[in-house]
Amino acid sequence: MNQKEFTKRRRQLTRMMESDSIAIVPAASPKLRNGDADYPYRQDSDFYYLTGFAEPDSVMVLVPGRGHAEYILFCRDRDPKAEAWDGPRAGTDGAVEEFGADDAFPIADINEILPGLMEGKERVYYNVGRNPDFDRKIMSWVNSIRAKIKNGAHVPGEFVSLDYLLHDMRLYKSRAEITAMRKAARISAEAHRRAMMECEPGMQEYELEALFLHTFRSHQAYPAYNSIVGGGPNACILHYTSNSDTLEDGELVLIDAGCEYDFYASDITRTFPVNGRFSKEQRAIYDVVLKAQKAAIDKIKPGNHWNEPHEAAVRAVTSGLIKLGILKGTQRQRIKDESYQKFFIHRTGHWIGMDVHDVGDYKVGDEWRVLEPGMVGTVEPGIYIPTGSRGVAKKWWGIGVRIEDDVLVTRDGHDVLSKDIPKEVDEIEALMAGGLPFRRSRRKAA
Ligand code: GLY
Ligand code: MN
Ligand code: MN
Repeated sequence: MNQKEFTKRRRQLTRMMESDSIAIVPAASPKLRNGDADYPYRQDSDFYYLTGFAEPDSVMVLVPGRGHAEYILFCRDRDPKAEAWDGPRAGTDGAVEEFGADDAFPIADINEILPGLMEGKERVYYNVGRNPDFDRKIMSWVNSIRAKIKNGAHVPGEFVSLDYLLHDMRLYKSRAEITAMRKAARISAEAHRRAMMECEPGMQEYELEALFLHTFRSHQAYPAYNSIVGGGPNACILHYTSNSDTLEDGELVLIDAGCEYDFYASDITRTFPVNGRFSKEQRAIYDVVLKAQKAAIDKIKPGNHWNEPHEAAVRAVTSGLIKLGILKGTQRQRIKDESYQKFFIHRTGHWIGMDVHDVGDYKVGDEWRVLEPGMVGTVEPGIYIPTGSRGVAKKWWGIGVRIEDDVLVTRDGHDVLSKDIPKEVDEIEALMAGGLPFRRSRRKAA
């Protein structure tokens, strides 16, 4: 993303901050996986949103109105020996020249410098409680100012969460952000289509997962979250990620997998038959979920509120289940007593952006948030009928279906970012039939 984009964001935040204030945002800390091996490092979304700087051990400081330097970056010093092991660092010169900081200091000097920047300010914008180690540092800097009260030092009177300002900004996606999200969705779409074409009975769930990893990394993207590949009844386990079973003939497979590209996520689910043809029962449930998803997507337009898509999906799922005899009574009764929730156990969506479950309030006061252009959310109704479900005919057992797309609110409605993946039954079956030459069994036979 262009540096200008980050400059614009810092300017916008600076304008919204009250006078006599300072904002402090630390980078993400590296996380140990086991032994001395780390998880892959991923920069904190708030920090990256404002800086475009991906290195750990960094702290961003904004001091509106501070004449010569409003934007200060603390970062790792250059160190040829360390860089020989871990790769190049920007250093303080790079922070200024490449990343637009007005001034930059070595992170090792932060204890000497930061209290001086906080001293005399009324307000500190900082998100307390996210990073206990950094919380302690902030307290020690405040105490070091307090120790100088007799010398006339002024301790900041207020700590204000930065979330209110920053997360509201992050909720409205800019043109550059939407471009990144489109690209993430396109890469994920390629992987989902590939999975439909290559899937066949006898394959392992993790082999389909591998197609996603291969496609993502081929485009310099990463999984935005742990991929879910659930064959048969595993589809009914919402956070099934072991992906360790065999995909059997006659089962459906639910794949919830999306990549992160240039720090922006996609989150997409498709459910399709392992052998390429839906059974009567699978198709019946699938049709209900698809109808619910379309009804929900139809509600995405400026002026509608956040919960309208969910309400539409609940109505469609409930009446669909009644028509199939899985629920009894009327739509109104079953919505009122919430018995539809036995099969539709989650909500219809969430904001998506730099985080898969992105920031931004869903309510303003007591009211659902009104949709506005630039907001992006998922639409993902599902029906899950675990094996052994009491009071449900056996023919439905083990069927789990979710369909999930990423949807941008536009000026006159919406745009489905993940539209390049079939979701109509006929389209899925046609793509899977066309995939025959790509199947492993065919390749082996050739
Ligand atoms: N993949 C997580 C979700 O759908 O919310
Ligand atoms: Mn998902
Ligand atoms: Mn989702």
